Amino acid sequence: MSRYAYVNGRYLPFREAKVHVEDRGYQFADGVYEVCEVRGGRLIDERRHIERLKRSLGELRIPLPMSVKALGVVLREVVARNRIGYGLVYLQITRGVARRDHAFPSPPVAPTMVVTARPLNLKRNEALAAAGIAVISVADNRWGRVDIKSVGLLPNVLARQAAIEQGARDAWFVDKDGVVMEASSANAWIVTAEGALVTRHADHAILRGITRAVVVDAVKGQGLSIEERAFTLQEAFAAREAFITSATQLVLPVVKVDGHVIGDGKPGPVATALRREFYRYAETG
Ligand code: PDD
Repeated sequence: MSRYAYVNGRYLPFREAKVHVEDRGYQFADGVYEVCEVRGGRLIDERRHIERLKRSLGELRIPLPMSVKALGVVLREVVARNRIGYGLVYLQITRGVARRDHAFPSPPVAPTMVVTARPLNLKRNEALAAAGIAVISVADNRWGRVDIKSVGLLPNVLARQAAIEQGARDAWFVDKDGVVMEASSANAWIVTAEGALVTRHADHAILRGITRAVVVDAVKGQGLSIEERAFTLQEAFAAREAFITSATQLVLPVVKVDGHVIGDGKPGPVATALRREFYRYAETG
């Protein structure tokens, strides 16, 4: 199947979809992105993803290149042209193309906007969730504003690669006090021995995940207790359950952390129920 990408106003066959060598995203990671799940051809939680995109852009003083309405049309067009039933849509906006200079281009240049989409393998993702994953911990060496969904993901890339090389699936960033921040591309959660759901409070030190927000609503909707606070790696080792949340992985059980088996080593009932109930709380378009 031929694939299409949106690049600065045009829908192009994938092999022709290119940006300039002096794009500031390429040279400085001077840009932001969003990843939205697609289910039944529909965008999941589009409104919240666009809200976060606007916030990320605002923090970096990059203008939104078009209206929110037009953006929605482009996202849907890329999903439709690529015939995505289940998959993801990726949106990236950078400060644009300019002669290499660290300061913002003056006068400003037009932002670069790219949208791509690709299918995901539902069977494989469900099998992964049924088995649960292993994670390792890595030192959090990221900058202090990871609440901005910037394309500067080098520590995340290295963390994920380290996990794979150690036979795990993902990595959890841990600060110098042993506090778990988040995963390389997902938020981290535990269920304590007392049955409380714990995920780190969202400030500048983690990304405020959209899936995290939906799961917070789901937890409250089911009358379970939730604690948005720091938790340590030691607490995670002793937890009844652990899981991660992201737009592409939903609620994905974690059954091993740094080689310590979590609970009975199988996906727990809380994570399993939250994964099942997720779409009751998400905005499904
Ligand atoms: N990542 N934390 C980090 C560092 C992330 O990169 C992501 C998402 C999340 C979860 O956010 P959300 O629930 O809104 O997807 C948390 C996307 C999926 C990615 O980089 O591919």
